[in-house]
Amino acid sequence: MSKRRIFATTALPYANGSFHIGHIMEYIQADIWVRFQRMQGHEVHFVCADDAHGAPIMLKAESEGITPEQLVGRIAAERKKYLDGFHIEFDNWHSTHSPENTELSQDIYSKLKAAGLIYTKSIEQFYDPVKQMFLADRYIKGECPKCSARDQYGDACEVCGAVYAPTDLKNPYSTLSGAQPVMKSSEHYFFKLSDARCVEFLKTWLDEAGHLQPQVANKAREWLTGEGDKALGDWDISRDAPYFGIPIPDAPGKYFYVWLDAPVGYLASLKNYFDSGKAKARGETRSFKEFLSADDTEQIHFIGKDIIYFHTLFWPAMLKFAGYKVPDSVNVHGFINTASGEKMSKSRGTGLSPLRYLDVGMNPEWLRYYIAAKLNASVEDIDFNPDDFMARVNSDLIGKYVNIASRIAPFLAKYFDNRMPGIRMGTLSGIPLPADTGGIAVAVASAKTIRGHFDEREFGKASRAIMEAADAINKEIDGFKPWALAKEIGSNPAAKEQLGQICASSIAGFKFLTIFLKPILPELAEAAERYLNSGTLTWNDADLPLDVEKFLPSGHQFGTFSPLMSRVEEKQLDALLEIEKEPAKVTTSTPHPATPAKSGVTPPSLSSPIKGEGVSSGADAPTISIDDFNKIDLRVAKITMAEQVEGADKLLKLTLDVGALGTKQVFAGIKSAYDPATLVGRMTVMVANLAPRKMKFGMSEGMVLAASGDTPGLFILSPDSGAQPGMKVK
Ligand code: MSP
Ligand code: ZN
Repeated sequence: MSKRRIFATTALPYANGSFHIGHIMEYIQADIWVRFQRMQGHEVHFVCADDAHGAPIMLKAESEGITPEQLVGRIAAERKKYLDGFHIEFDNWHSTHSPENTELSQDIYSKLKAAGLIYTKSIEQFYDPVKQMFLADRYIKGECPKCSARDQYGDACEVCGAVYAPTDLKNPYSTLSGAQPVMKSSEHYFFKLSDARCVEFLKTWLDEAGHLQPQVANKAREWLTGEGDKALGDWDISRDAPYFGIPIPDAPGKYFYVWLDAPVGYLASLKNYFDSGKAKARGETRSFKEFLSADDTEQIHFIGKDIIYFHTLFWPAMLKFAGYKVPDSVNVHGFINTASGEKMSKSRGTGLSPLRYLDVGMNPEWLRYYIAAKLNASVEDIDFNPDDFMARVNSDLIGKYVNIASRIAPFLAKYFDNRMPGIRMGTLSGIPLPADTGGIAVAVASAKTIRGHFDEREFGKASRAIMEAADAINKEIDGFKPWALAKEIGSNPAAKEQLGQICASSIAGFKFLTIFLKPILPELAEAAERYLNSGTLTWNDADLPLDVEKFLPSGHQFGTFSPLMSRVEEKQLDALLEIEKEPAKVTTSTPHPATPAKSGVTPPSLSSPIKGEGVSSGADAPTISIDDFNKIDLRVAKITMAEQVEGADKLLKLTLDVGALGTKQVFAGIKSAYDPATLVGRMTVMVANLAPRKMKFGMSEGMVLAASGDTPGLFILSPDSGAQPGMKVK
């Protein structure tokens, strides 16, 4: 296999907040992959940086009375604790607010300009006359142009679901100062993504195998070839002062929009890593420029599904037309959700704080393993479920893998002078194989598959294959009953021979499994290496065909055995989740909108149903079990008709399309809040298995969910866009 030279990155986290579990999951995924490639002998340079620029960081710093640099510095200072804590080994951590990034961003811009891909255009935008700055949409609120609901954002109404532009709002105000914004025009700089050259290039790039997962490429292709409203527009890359960002050359008062310089931060961190001599320490003697322009350098990004747009369209096009290397792969993962499982509701926490995890003394490798076991190469979300976490770690790591060594080590020490007994070999169809045992053969046979799984980021499949091999070895130990053989040693000369064979085979199998698990569990593997007295294991050690005498020579001296890993205890999870009162923001808190597409309507939190025993706001409802909750059949429903009910002052009659459940008729007490005409076509959520109730006006076959509180207003729920009638809500 020829040596790969890889430059790998994870997304650059916004520097206005601490890491949450979503970041940690992304880093664990990338870190496992990087460690795996290194174990195969490939050269990998793995870098990241803080994404420091943008209005939210500037405003947050201002509100704290510090400079943006100070804010970014404070956040940067706490990064190490998390990264070291979870054994995430970046080669370099830098910042987009750096000389390297200024130089590279300005260089890329100048080259795009020279290529004729930059133009300017005057645009009109809301301006806050008090704050004296232009307002991004998220800083403008006002009344919905359709239903007049107050305090609505500039893109969509959370009450009636209408979608509009900020300029459509009635009585708009700036959320920064409360002032009424005025329209003001200003010159903006655009990157001409719609240029035929860009479109042509991107089409080819998206089609080339290996750059993207198929579903990601499809999504990007949709954006690229969209028509009408959905046509790919040019990209507004400038922002007016005051802005915390990189100045646009020859354009006083103009800065690059943060999403222009953010990905350039990948290169800036790499440059800093080369220029500071760290790359040399890793054996890379070329300069940053030479490395980046070399044909065999692979540029591989790991990102989450919310930032696909930037990484599959703008970023490759920017690089291409500035004459830089384009990414070889953009690997996209889903989100980790932590709001499920009984433990979570018991603690009323909805999040999992990575820092708390470390603070309560939980083993970081448990989480690494659990996340690995859940991950695959798709963009699917994964759940953190505390019970599943405990079961998985305890049964797989402790019950299967560690168990092999714990069972065998005492016999090796007591009966074999703590040395390798040597495996008696035979042949099967000409292939040399251990004569007496099959467990090691299972491990050996799966090596190639497991290696393939790691390479393809199918860590879940890898961990299952590893555990199957561990199962086979444990089963064989059960069959041989080494404890019984040990008792017979005095009376039966064959017993020691057999004991030797099972010990030798099992411990060799354990060594194999250690190689497989090492990318996921670096520290545990190190402890196992110490016991095995093997030196640093690499994937070459698992090369086939296996020469057992080389892999673990007879007479090889083992180290002292000590327990390799402890079990997860329930009380640790309690400590983790119970103290965890502050809901961590697991689904990204996105200071600048991550997807240019409209954000849709955010569902208000489910608090009280329209009728019946509502949970009064403020008071806590008694705890229920997940089984209690599961009794409620919640479904996405489409309102196909909404009618006034003659003689009823509170009710509207709704006809709901509930997919496979058919059509349902519901009387809902929402007349005070909704004009029926605005409801037709909307999606909402209903209780589908509520006993039908005969009312004065007809049968009501369920209930529509809405939120209300101490202040006036009634708000029916909406699922996020994409939900279909009949889908279960759980
Ligand atoms: N600053 C931008 C990225 C710029 S890259 C040139 C950003 N930052 S972020 O802090 O919001 O997100 C960083 C990464 O964390 C992204 O890849 C994002 O998808 C990922 N995650 C954020 N929440 C997540 C989960 N709940 N689960 C998994 N990953 C998620 O976006
Ligand atoms: Zn509205």
